[in-house]
Amino acid sequence: MPAISCSAPGKVILCGEHAVVYQKPAIAIPVFEGSTKCSIVAKPTAPHDETMIIAPNIALKCQLRCLVENHPIRTAVNLVLQKLSLDHLPVCEIRIQSTLPTAAGLGSSASTSVALIRALSTFLGRSLSDEEVNSLAFEIEKIHHGTPSGIDNTVITYAKTLFFIKARASEFILPGEPLTLVIADTGIKGSTSKAVADVKLGFNTEPEKFGMLINQIGELVYSSKDFLINGDLRSLGNNLTKNHELLREMGVSCDKLDLLVDDALSHGALGAKLSGGGQGGIMIALVESDQAESVASALRSKGAVNTIITHVPAKGQTG
Ligand code: MEV
Repeated sequence: MPAISCSAPGKVILCGEHAVVYQKPAIAIPVFEGSTKCSIVAKPTAPHDETMIIAPNIALKCQLRCLVENHPIRTAVNLVLQKLSLDHLPVCEIRIQSTLPTAAGLGSSASTSVALIRALSTFLGRSLSDEEVNSLAFEIEKIHHGTPSGIDNTVITYAKTLFFIKARASEFILPGEPLTLVIADTGIKGSTSKAVADVKLGFNTEPEKFGMLINQIGELVYSSKDFLINGDLRSLGNNLTKNHELLREMGVSCDKLDLLVDDALSHGALGAKLSGGGQGGIMIALVESDQAESVASALRSKGAVNTIITHVPAKGQTG
């Protein structure tokens, strides 16, 4: 029996992370250089209730029924069954493989959820719409991250650059000029739920300071959207660097992120910042396309464990 396979990309937050949890806007970009693939094959001759889950990236190889009730993978299966009004999953083998590092800010959890939900619903005979996939993936993000904004599952489901405000319809946007981003992984695992909880604690303890930082980030995102659409990459770059400063004041940067941001800027990047939950994970640098290799190599020399160069085509360009 042929396997059903579905894939989902990763993502970066261009600007606005953390403030987006507080109803401010953020801009997110899908990253196709890393992805998650979920394959499902029916095992009609296997004993009842012996569905295997194999996910080498998270060192998981066990039967579905052995996962705790609220495990994200088990929850995904239950949510899809519920959505399709089915009471059981035919015995099968589910294989999840990802080239995205976990806890790095590249959206590996949302990418896994989206690929898994799509593969399960296709396997069960009714492919869900993007809207349905997105809303189920958001439920799983809540298990991973506590009180997420929903930006990760949305950008990964639709696989398009978006201007996002929590609980509102997303706006897909196209840059006026092509963007080149260098993504550098600090190699330090960052927990999004911890970083979000730390910001919440900061907000509760110092509401004035955190309120101001969140508002300033919100304003930067609105002007960044205009710069992006108009192709003013120099001004966009300046905004990204200012956004990093504000996130640092919020306490979600770390020495290595600051070091890599400074290094990217000293090698001519137009702007640089941490991206995602922070406290480790990745930083991004907006660069001229002919600088990308040299900035990436400088970041690796400064200790980045991996770099990815990604391009976002401009309006009217294909690919
Ligand atoms: C994580 O990619 C972005 C955060 O703003 C959390 C969220 O929006 O759910 C840190």
